[in-house]
Amino acid sequence: MNKDDILLLLRSSRSGFVSGAALAASMGVSRTAVWKHIKALEREGYCIDAVPSKGYRLISAPDVIVVSDVKQELRTRTVGREIVPLAETVSTNTLAMDLAQKGAVDGTVVIAETQTGGKGRLGRTWVSPRGNLYLSVILRPAVPVHKAPLITLMGAVAVAAVVREYLKVPVGIKWPNDVLVSGKKVAGLLTEMSAEPDRIRHIVLGIGVNVNMDVAELPPEVRKISTTLAAVTGKHVDRNKLLKMLLAELDRWYHRFLKNEAEVLRAWEGLNVTLGNRVTVSGAGARFEGLARSLDDEGRLILKLDDGTLRQVAAGDVTIIKGKP
Ligand code: BTN
Repeated sequence: MNKDDILLLLRSSRSGFVSGAALAASMGVSRTAVWKHIKALEREGYCIDAVPSKGYRLISAPDVIVVSDVKQELRTRTVGREIVPLAETVSTNTLAMDLAQKGAVDGTVVIAETQTGGKGRLGRTWVSPRGNLYLSVILRPAVPVHKAPLITLMGAVAVAAVVREYLKVPVGIKWPNDVLVSGKKVAGLLTEMSAEPDRIRHIVLGIGVNVNMDVAELPPEVRKISTTLAAVTGKHVDRNKLLKMLLAELDRWYHRFLKNEAEVLRAWEGLNVTLGNRVTVSGAGARFEGLARSLDDEGRLILKLDDGTLRQVAAGDVTIIKGKP
């Protein structure tokens, strides 16, 4: 038994109060030991009321991810079977790739409060201060290697669905997987994979959601195109609730993907803000301009260039050219 058990008992009490004797009995320790745990929780930022005839009551918790709380309500088949919580890591993707290599189970989630070397797409840095969500899900789908890119689209669909449900605002996905609210990016996804020619060993689906951080912490060039869920709503967002919703939605979409990947493509198309627009796509040393026509069945963008030729693009940054269909 540890402080997480005390928190669980305090959180699940109907009246809010749990007596010191009841806590001591459930934990099999003395009331003095309970009191020491309560003091340790207070030092971590929990505010706990102690009333002589009633016991202890949780008034407020610091803004940290409480995995025991998340797990208690999680009813997923795969995603979140194991959760590895960290105060800090270099990159949850890097750690998840390492754990996957060492045999971590399908659905293992690595989550950190902050990253010192967060990785973005196209070799960029993902600035990762406290207050956001940084997680990586280890998946071991029994599907052909060429279907792997659809996992990223699947992740973007799940993130967009959760943001829409939480914020009750329109949400869009810009190819390949930027989740946007009011035209600004609130989340990004980065997938890494280990595979043999005919078999995926494991995929790591990395998700970064800008939740409560101060937008001023973003570099100016990123601030222009990004925002946070708190800035959009004008309210502090409950990250534990958001995480629970996200793991549940990822699990639903992962199983839909395994059954029928066309459903993922349809959902992605329904949310996308790229197709049908004139766009430029830049990255990997090349730049194309044309009409974003469709996705192929591996998630690549099909552009119709001005000379009428079609070009498949596997990676890059899309800019939508307004007013030019
Ligand atoms: C992007 O450039 O849009 C993708 C950003 C992906 C960031 C997430 S945060 C959790 C995971 N760990 C990383 O190092 N990157 C991904």
